[in-house]
Amino acid sequence: MNARAPKGTSDMLPDVARAWEHLQRVAQELFALYGYEPVYTPLFEHTDVFTRGIGEATDIVSKEMYTFEDKGGRSITLRPEGTASVVRASLEHNLTANGAQAKLYYAGPMFRYERPQKGRMRQFWQIGIECLGAPEPTADAEVITVLWRYFESLGIPSTNMRLLLNSMGDEACRPAYRDTIASFIRGHAADLCDECSRRADTNPLRAFDCKDPACREVMAGAPLLRDELCEECATHYAAVKAHLDALDIPYIEDSTLVRGLDYYTRTVFEVQVDAGLGSQNAIGGGGRYDRLMQEYGGPATPGLGFALGFERTLLALEAAGVQIPAVPRAEVFVARVDDSVTAEVFALSQRLRDAGVAAELDHQARSLKSQFKQADRLGARLVVIVGPEELAAGEVTLRDMSTKEEKRLALDSATADVIAALGEEGTD
Ligand code: HAM
Repeated sequence: MNARAPKGTSDMLPDVARAWEHLQRVAQELFALYGYEPVYTPLFEHTDVFTRGIGEATDIVSKEMYTFEDKGGRSITLRPEGTASVVRASLEHNLTANGAQAKLYYAGPMFRYERPQKGRMRQFWQIGIECLGAPEPTADAEVITVLWRYFESLGIPSTNMRLLLNSMGDEACRPAYRDTIASFIRGHAADLCDECSRRADTNPLRAFDCKDPACREVMAGAPLLRDELCEECATHYAAVKAHLDALDIPYIEDSTLVRGLDYYTRTVFEVQVDAGLGSQNAIGGGGRYDRLMQEYGGPATPGLGFALGFERTLLALEAAGVQIPAVPRAEVFVARVDDSVTAEVFALSQRLRDAGVAAELDHQARSLKSQFKQADRLGARLVVIVGPEELAAGEVTLRDMSTKEEKRLALDSATADVIAALGEEGTD
């Protein structure tokens, strides 16, 4: 048996799991200010939710999906991202019927069969929001602001981040632009990598995303969609920028930002960082997808959102020197002097926990000295020492771990006294 986690996956051990919970907590608090509600969709869907939604010609669908036939003969795929599932669920449950707006957020694992490297996993964790039913450019500016403020609230300095912004046009202006780029690629096929040459027939705009230096040089000379947007898209894009300007959100226009999913229309954006990440420098990104629900057979329903990657965000936080706040595992440690007081130690620990105090006790018959060490390791601010002599007098000893001061407490009122002592300490 291979006792290692599969390639491209990792166990979230307590330190990392705590960071994941911290990122979710910060997200919940921030997203609530904008009216977002939680949603949980299945980790797997019928495969066509993704092939239709994300697009057959994307890398995700053509190369990276975990697809299998279940025992009932259905083609099932582990979700490579959250947007397609949220839109499918909103359609299934009529969340946007009669013009209603739905604001939903999610957090959980996604699966892509990619070549693992720093910041690129096969199972990775995303936090995302989707805003459905909102066509106005204020919605674009709001969603982008939420992403920016989120990274700021985590403590990533804005000088470490770059917010890239582009408009991908819509069904009125993008087809002609696609053809223009396809012709451009055919005209420069000799100087482009094989994959980019093939993209002329499959997904020409993705050639902007190729990492090959030769391709980048050629594509730098390609016509830009910015110059060929239809009037409606140009007006929408200008309004999004004006709303961002009004909030001082520092975006950089990047006409080559095309993103790896076919569902986008109009606004797309990405937050990148340099420190701590190699080539996988996008910590979050998103955009508008006004045609996605129609793609699933539903009514025309505008939508937009973003997702951010947990692993990459964590790398960016580490690089910025941001500490994830540590949660002490115990506020109080109840130590025993010898075995004769075990029952009292056990009962007192439980009384403290019932009163809402994080309390720990020794389950390993350690010496008093090692119990103090253990109390320190757990972050306990107070130790209650229970010994046979004090107990005989109906008392216990309270030790302050930072000052090392000790005082006697009556056993009967020990829970209330400990809570009071914790309160006093907290007000320093
Ligand atoms: P995405 O750009 O494919 O967009 O992924 C969003 C974020 O997930 C990336 O910026 C990155 O931080 C993280 N990520 C993606 N792939 C990996 C990987 N293999 N390993 C680690 N992290 C990864 C979406 O998924 C869209 N659903 C975003 C969206 C929401 N658009 C509209 N609404």
